[in-house]
Amino acid sequence: MQHIQLKNKLAIDKMRTAGKRLATILKEIEPLVVAGISTWELDAEIEGRMRALALKPVCKGYGSYRHATCISVNNVVVHGIPSKDTILKSGDFVKIDVVGSFENYCADMARPFFVGAVDERVQRLAAVAKSALNKAIALIKPGIFLSDISACIQEEVEQAGFGVVRYFSGHGIGKSLHEAPDVPNYGEAGEGPVLREGMTLAIEPMITEGSYEIVIMPDGWTAKTKDGGLAAHEEDTIVVTRDGVEILTRL
Ligand code: MF3
Ligand code: CO
Repeated sequence: MQHIQLKNKLAIDKMRTAGKRLATILKEIEPLVVAGISTWELDAEIEGRMRALALKPVCKGYGSYRHATCISVNNVVVHGIPSKDTILKSGDFVKIDVVGSFENYCADMARPFFVGAVDERVQRLAAVAKSALNKAIALIKPGIFLSDISACIQEEVEQAGFGVVRYFSGHGIGKSLHEAPDVPNYGEAGEGPVLREGMTLAIEPMITEGSYEIVIMPDGWTAKTKDGGLAAHEEDTIVVTRDGVEILTRL
């Protein structure tokens, strides 16, 4: 197992600044997520607001990725590439995932958006992704096992009758977007490293209404459900504190 870096106060302060600014931007962007806008325009709006707030768009230039955000619609689970050809329409379920760094320290978050009136199925799936994330975060304090997070998410999602994506995981985060440890969204409780004060994690349940299997499109990024069913994704960056947890990506 790779070394899990503990962050000091200065590092955490920077990650919190990044996180709160990202949360502000995703809140402000909400009224723009309407029928007729393209995901390319949404990405440009978000990137502009990030730069205005001194946040570096970390996804842009991450490997072959060329955009500030991933915008995943309906059956796209994660890593949807913003495109002028993807025009939102009423009923769409949109997940916007964004990573920003402030003075070299990253925060990573994803939020769901509804375009106009969405089906009750969409609302339920989104609610379960959010409640799985919230329940898992509520467990966090020094001394719990990493896989207690994983097991909590899996239980919450499967109890609701939905699938948990195995192919992607949450992750440690800091100066790098992806650090040790991996944070799977499924597994047995009581395993893996023990959480300590100063660990920073991005927790991100990815859930499906049908099978949890995914397929990656030839673009190398877009991850869709194999069966074409809907998928939800919500993500926060947290820090393990002396006696619990702080969510760095909420206002
Ligand atoms: N937020 C995603 C993650 O947790 C985004 C990374 S993919 C990127 O891994 F290429 F867009 F950066
Ligand atoms: Co992430």
